[in-house]
Amino acid sequence: MNIKIILVALATLSFSTLTSAAGDAVAGKAKAGVCAACHGVNGVSAISIFPNLKGQKAAYTVKQLKAFKDKTRIDPSMNAQVATLTDTDIENLAAFYESLK
Ligand code: HEC
Repeated sequence: MNIKIILVALATLSFSTLTSAAGDAVAGKAKAGVCAACHGVNGVSAISIFPNLKGQKAAYTVKQLKAFKDKTRIDPSMNAQVATLTDTDIENLAAFYESLK
């Protein structure tokens, strides 16, 4: 085995992990109905304590949703919202919000 090939493969792997989130925005939109109550239909919230999600980077949104799910980020509303979401749901929701212009 050529060490260079292994290093390139490892670099590609970690890069794709970092940038992953090839979620499906259409599927994410279908899941986002409940989120709209607080975050707005187009990811822009009318209430100051609910953050805007529109245009947010998908990788960041995925990270936050997973943190709410494993409770390393605590917020009573959000911990409950993500409890039943799968990793695929999370990636799709993140792709949907990123896609909003
Ligand atoms: C009952 C209201 C409510 C609902 C419904 C709700 N959220 Fe939230 N969400 C919040 C609040 C409040 C925060 C801010 C939490 C904090 O202050 O840490 C938040 C934060 C977030 C964040 C973090 C944003 C950031 O900039 O760090 C994301 C992402 C998010 N919500 C996505 C969603 C998604 C996706 C759904 C639907 C599955 C959803 N939320 C449903 C209230 C809600």
